[in-house]
Amino acid sequence: MSSATLAMPAWARVSERRLEHIMRVTELLDEWAAALRLPPEEAQAWHDAGRYHDALRDAPETELRRLAGDLPEYTTEMLHGPAAAERLQQDGETRIELLDAIRYHTVGSARWGRLGRALYMADYLEPGRKFSRADRAYLASQAPHDFDATFRQVVRARLEWSLREGMRLYPEAVVLWNSVR
Ligand SMILES: [Fe+2]
Ligand SMILES: [Fe+2]
Repeated sequence: MSSATLAMPAWARVSERRLEHIMRVTELLDEWAAALRLPPEEAQAWHDAGRYHDALRDAPETELRRLAGDLPEYTTEMLHGPAAAERLQQDGETRIELLDAIRYHTVGSARWGRLGRALYMADYLEPGRKFSRADRAYLASQAPHDFDATFRQVVRARLEWSLREGMRLYPEAVVLWNSVR
């Protein structure tokens, strides 16, 4: 599916810039799904994960906290994953793997199957981000061929960045790293 036809739900709260990121993530997931020759249903779920993962990225904090529920340790930036999953469920979305991919994409989950892992990678590796362009482009090209090793590299890179910036490490992210290292 081309990005030009990417339809966001009516409840989405995304800036123009964010929408471009969403389109790039979705395109990358579409590319990987094609390279992996995923069956149509799974490919559609990968596409939808990209399309919906940041649908509430620019929603106000009060709305995000109301939807995300009791997550006092989450910073504002972390809430849009659980909030979007909740909102999708209210819309009748029942694909658990899709919901879990979106719910945990801001922090990571050791319980993910292929879909959650693919979204986590695509979110980081999409070509619009300005840092480490060559390294990330290489990893993006490797993802469909060496999925697990690429995922490990992305988890490592994201945790390294968090440490370097003096950010909090969330327990879910540490458990994820221990499960793949
Ligand atoms: Fe996000
Ligand atoms: Fe994103």
